[in-house]
Amino acid sequence: MRIVLLGAPGSGKGTQASLMVERLGLPHISTGVLLRSAAKRGTELGLKAKSSIDRGELVPDDIMSDMIEERLSRNDAADGFILDGYPRNLAQAKSLDTMLERFGQPVNEVIQIDVDPEQISRRLARLAKEQGRADDNAEVVRNRTRVYYEQTAPVIDCYTGRGLLTHVLGDGEVGEVLERILSVLNMNHTSA
Ligand code: AP5
Repeated sequence: MRIVLLGAPGSGKGTQASLMVERLGLPHISTGVLLRSAAKRGTELGLKAKSSIDRGELVPDDIMSDMIEERLSRNDAADGFILDGYPRNLAQAKSLDTMLERFGQPVNEVIQIDVDPEQISRRLARLAKEQGRADDNAEVVRNRTRVYYEQTAPVIDCYTGRGLLTHVLGDGEVGEVLERILSVLNMNHTSA
């Protein structure tokens, strides 16, 4: 199964993807994790990406598509994956389609995690304490959220139009949210 997780910053994409790995046996591919790790190691890609990440802006699409293509080509992604953080705009959605078409493996599930904005603000404040990321100060968080509504929202409409997207309520206990996601995946795959 090739799953894309969408949701605002702090909606719980990373948390849910980590739990889904155990239940579905698929690799979790997080662009945020890949980018932060590249920046920490000081690779060319990481250094190019760092200034965009630190401002809460999107890293340029060409850097992202090279990174995703390299990651999706690895053996562990051959039977499916949980993609967290990509695509984040329409150009990336198109690149992903082209890439997966070449691999003969289209996306078959898109889960949009919906969380009330007040709850999101509380979570992001907690995340800042837990992880101390370079992009977690209030101004950058506001920017990440603005970028999400301006650039990622059209991706939601695009996948909805193609009948691939299901909204899942992301409020409540982490385990409850996980069960909601798994039941959507189960239902869609049983009825397919
Ligand atoms: P990325 O790392 O993807 O950040 P994000 O989308 O802003 O997401 P977060 O990691 O902040 O939140 P999340 O939804 O994963 O929630 P989490 O599970 O952590 O991207 C960072 C940057 O990289 C971008 O700004 C951009 O610059 C760049 N980038 C990445 N992808 C890109 C792309 N495709 N193109 C261009 N640039 C790209 O949870 C948040 C907190 O809430 C945690 O503390 C968690 O414990 C808590 N929590 C989770 N679920 C619950 C729950 N149910 N109840 C209570 N607390 C909860």
